[in-house]
Amino acid sequence: MPAPLPPDTIVYAHGDFRPLAQASYALEERGVLFADGVYEVVRYDRGKPFALKPHADRLANSLDGIDLPGLDADEVADLSNELVKRAGHDHCKVYWQVTRGDLGPRDFLIQTPTDFKPNLTLIAYPTPPLQRDATALPPSGGAIIVEDCRWTKCWIKSLMLQPASLAKTAAHKAGAVEAIFEREKPGTTESHITEGSSTNVFIVRDGQLLTHPNDGWVLPGITRDVLLDAAQNELGLPFAEQTFTAADLKAADEVFVCSTTQLTAITSVHGQPIGDGQPGPITTAVNKAYTERILAD
Ligand code: PDD
Repeated sequence: MPAPLPPDTIVYAHGDFRPLAQASYALEERGVLFADGVYEVVRYDRGKPFALKPHADRLANSLDGIDLPGLDADEVADLSNELVKRAGHDHCKVYWQVTRGDLGPRDFLIQTPTDFKPNLTLIAYPTPPLQRDATALPPSGGAIIVEDCRWTKCWIKSLMLQPASLAKTAAHKAGAVEAIFEREKPGTTESHITEGSSTNVFIVRDGQLLTHPNDGWVLPGITRDVLLDAAQNELGLPFAEQTFTAADLKAADEVFVCSTTQLTAITSVHGQPIGDGQPGPITTAVNKAYTERILAD
């Protein structure tokens, strides 16, 4: 288990920077009662944010998606930078959380008062520095495939993370590092792989990268975009944003998952090796390009 943050850790809460020990949530906070909120996770390397603007833009979309007014996402990005400066972290991930706050007694109906202010919380978690040797093999591990039982608006980075958390825990219990979701969408007759519990999924087939399209059934991952851009403009790798099945994934030459905090080679699924059971050359090349972009930023 990760060590708890010391109580004097500086966070942003209640409209100001303050020690963690002086921040708390109301019992009737809608973020707790209804998971009524959205979030982001941003990587900082050497005190500098990576892909800050795309995170702010996605936060704005998520806020629109749940009809939560009253917050300028670019100002949240500025506060995040200020937090990292005050906390003095070189390497960290900053968790941004916006909830609807305490609107009184528990009620499904959302009644937004005229003086409404969203509840914004920012927490910086120190992280180990990125593996500096870009030629090193990426971290790797196994995966399991589970039913995607989440809601349909997966483009919103919602706090409703119970299905994802249960899936990740099932993966952990199976000795795997990620649970990969599979879903039969309305109007289709076949299940497809959507994404991981907290990652986007890529497979490599005959030298081509495949990942699920950004059609609302997956989170529009920022790392996913960075990797597709690197594939196109740097590595000259063919790619397609298209659906694929669990059978395609199991038969792939390589599989990897990615998010702001990780790129991980998936070397087995339900214990069956992918390819030769080692991180493959394309995964390694993509990881190298990703690492170099973070270091160059
Ligand atoms: N998770 N898909 C899901 C369901 C995710 O939760 C995430 C990120 C991603 C990757 O998105 P990005 O590359 O923008 O981080 C895809 C974060 C890191 C989390 O929940 O902690």
